[in-house]
Amino acid sequence: MVLNTDYSIKNVGETVSLNGWVSKIRNLGGIIFIDLRDRSGIMQLIVRPESSIYELANNLKNEYVIKAEGTIVAREKANKNIATGEIEVEVSNIVLLNKSLELPFEISDNTTALEDTRLKYRYLDLRRNNLSSNLITRHKITLAVRNFLDSERFIEVETPILCKSTPEGARDYLVPSRVNKGKFYALPQSPQIFKQLLMVGGVERYFQIAKCFRDEDLRADRQPEFTQIDIEMSFVDEDDVMDLAEKLVAYVFKEIKGINIKLPLMKMKYDDAINKYGSDKPDLRFEMEIQDISDIFKNTDISFFKENLDNNGVINAIVAKNVADKYSRKEIDKLTDYVKTYKAKGLAYIKMEDEVTGSIAKLLNDKERDKLINSLKLEKNDIVFIISDKYNITKTALGALRCKLARDLNLINKEDYKLLWVVDFPSFEWSEEENRFMATHHPFTAPKDSDIDKLINDKANCYSKAYDIVINGYEAGGGSIRIHDEKVQEKMFEALELTEEQIREKFGFFVDALKYGTPPHGGLAFGLDRLVMLLTGTENIRDVIAFPKTASASDLMSECPNNVDEKQLKELGIMIEKK
Ligand code: AMO
Repeated sequence: MVLNTDYSIKNVGETVSLNGWVSKIRNLGGIIFIDLRDRSGIMQLIVRPESSIYELANNLKNEYVIKAEGTIVAREKANKNIATGEIEVEVSNIVLLNKSLELPFEISDNTTALEDTRLKYRYLDLRRNNLSSNLITRHKITLAVRNFLDSERFIEVETPILCKSTPEGARDYLVPSRVNKGKFYALPQSPQIFKQLLMVGGVERYFQIAKCFRDEDLRADRQPEFTQIDIEMSFVDEDDVMDLAEKLVAYVFKEIKGINIKLPLMKMKYDDAINKYGSDKPDLRFEMEIQDISDIFKNTDISFFKENLDNNGVINAIVAKNVADKYSRKEIDKLTDYVKTYKAKGLAYIKMEDEVTGSIAKLLNDKERDKLINSLKLEKNDIVFIISDKYNITKTALGALRCKLARDLNLINKEDYKLLWVVDFPSFEWSEEENRFMATHHPFTAPKDSDIDKLINDKANCYSKAYDIVINGYEAGGGSIRIHDEKVQEKMFEALELTEEQIREKFGFFVDALKYGTPPHGGLAFGLDRLVMLLTGTENIRDVIAFPKTASASDLMSECPNNVDEKQLKELGIMIEKK
């Protein structure tokens, strides 16, 4: 197979045979110019009036499929915008391989077609250069991953797609069994249990480019079916897994982007990430750290600050430098609505104009104002956004505001990559809904050795051997060291208030397996789609998946999910509830 971009000025004089689609056709004063598009890009073809295939060429239309033979010549005027811009092909023969209906939208990188239309005709959308180049990058990434892990003595093992529900915490996609009526398989949310069983099975170093399925609310970086680079290793501790994983990332960045990532990556404790950035996936491409200013208001008369502090709340701030003049009342009202979506009750602010102005300026006493200016190092035209609320709400809302301000103010250099590990996650999260502690990760995540005794009685202070790799504010991957000690596993189940019966029903086979000489082990999984997003610079996960689903988890092209025949339902013993 030859591709358009295989040829350059070096090949002038050579005879070539090219296949592709007519991307554009122009007849300029008799000479016909055809942009022939293939996977790699465009090649300009020229057909002269005296040519025997002139008539055929003149009748070609966009997206007709042709084979063109001819000679490579140098262009009179080079086109710097395309890879083959210095050359063109003087065509001697064209074979029309197929015609095309008129397209529902133009095949162009700058298409204005709605995404829904593009998804309905995804096979046409894939002809656009940005999508096809994303697929090529995705292929190169998986190839690099396989090469690297192979060189580190990992072996790729496939695990089942029809399986028992895995404990990842999202809702399962279920598949009814025909043979075992009334019973269901679950599609794997991840191969978690299987990869641990592979360690019990002596595989020692496993990986898989694994399809995962989660029935959860979708976002710009989430799909109901997505792909993980799933890894598990025996005889390791946290640092071994992180060391291997960051080397893999560095290798991929170098192979794909030619970028050198400096190792080892920085490690930030979960608690510090929340405290300074209001997120467990901090974007470090810009500053604007969250600052705790509660102390300044210890003896304040400002009633809502006082009230919050008395209720164990906090007062935190972020400073946007030299942009106070950009924020009108109306803009700030919009930001207030924004933080309210993160449950904050409101957003206070002060501006450093000729004097201190803003929503709480008049309420500040001299001491408070001076302390704020000093501790936040405020300068002319700075604006300070302040939230006073419960700790978690304050942090999360300011963390989200920090990212929004950075986007709105163009503080992010798109070429920049900031990677870090977030470590020392709490083992448990308090669930307001359930009114109890729930596992932050799956129940096989090992607690820190020093915290094993806290599993039962001091859950709020129990931390785990879990880690996430964060790139530019995305959770690109995450994993943990697993519990391999039966006694600790029992304690963990007890901590999660699982009954004997529930344990047997959910994890019986797995708990049994752990009793047969399980090696210490741990691993992690990267979100492959997210890695590809980061390396191709898109913020839409659908741009890196050939046939993605919409936000309502449907495929507009094949119209799935869809109804099935009565007969199929009957075979499965299923009746659909009529509303
Ligand atoms: P976790 O649930 O953190 O860990 O998933 C690992 C990584 O997968 C990606 N990811 C997703 N990508 C796209 N769409 C989704 N719906 C989606 N959900 C997750 C993220 C995430 O960091 N079994 C564990 C790993 C382990 O402990 O080894 C697991 O699945 O990038």
